[in-house]
Amino acid sequence: MQTILPESLDAKQAYKLLTGVIVPRPIAWVSTISTDGVTNLAPFSYFTSVSNKPPMVGINIGQEYGGRKDTARNILETQEFVVNVAAWQQLEDLHASADHHPPDTSEIELLGLATQVSTHIKAPRIAQAPVQMECRFCQMIPFGTGGSEFYVGEVVAFHFRDDVIDTETLRINSLAIEPICRLGGPFYAALGEVAKMRSRS
Ligand SMILES: Cc1cc2nc3c(=O)[nH]c(=O)nc-3n(C[C@H](O)[C@H](O)[C@H](O)COP(=O)(O)O)c2cc1C
Repeated sequence: MQTILPESLDAKQAYKLLTGVIVPRPIAWVSTISTDGVTNLAPFSYFTSVSNKPPMVGINIGQEYGGRKDTARNILETQEFVVNVAAWQQLEDLHASADHHPPDTSEIELLGLATQVSTHIKAPRIAQAPVQMECRFCQMIPFGTGGSEFYVGEVVAFHFRDDVIDTETLRINSLAIEPICRLGGPFYAALGEVAKMRSRS
């Protein structure tokens, strides 16, 4: 075994370790709109669910160029965001949407992605994403000294492509989503082997 103590690491080195071992990570493909009406899209793999009732999800957003990323600023200003879940076929667009652009540039327009009007909030949904969750911002919690901020939103509307959900049983066909998994560095993975175990009583 190799032991590394965090005191010896700077933020970038710790990031390398964490993103290499916390795998695979789901990706929130977050669409927002600024108060000036500019839409924005970026992927965030520090993403999880934090509550079932009400359903709440969270993403951890770091800083860039000494300030908040467009997504973080838009969420704080408009109090809303959409978590889209991209399908494997959207990997190129998802990866490209992480490129840095000035706040007045819309990654959605730049990539020519079709959007759908949201039902409860102003931020648009990514039409081709098989799952879209409209969220109202609830809370932001800063962590550490490196500018990490955890943004929590309440899901106010779930949208599923027809083949993804059985609305009678609420069973989700996760395979139909063909989700993109993030590994360390520039690596991604698709869902691999799936095992079915007995249900817990
Ligand atoms: C797959 C993927 C996952 C990412 N996950 C995160 C993340 O969890 N937190 C973060 O701050 N940045 C993450 N990034 C980097 C942001 O997407 C990137 O900084 C982006 O330019 C932010 O865009 P914005 O300024 O429009 O919000 C990720 C990038 C990729 C490609």
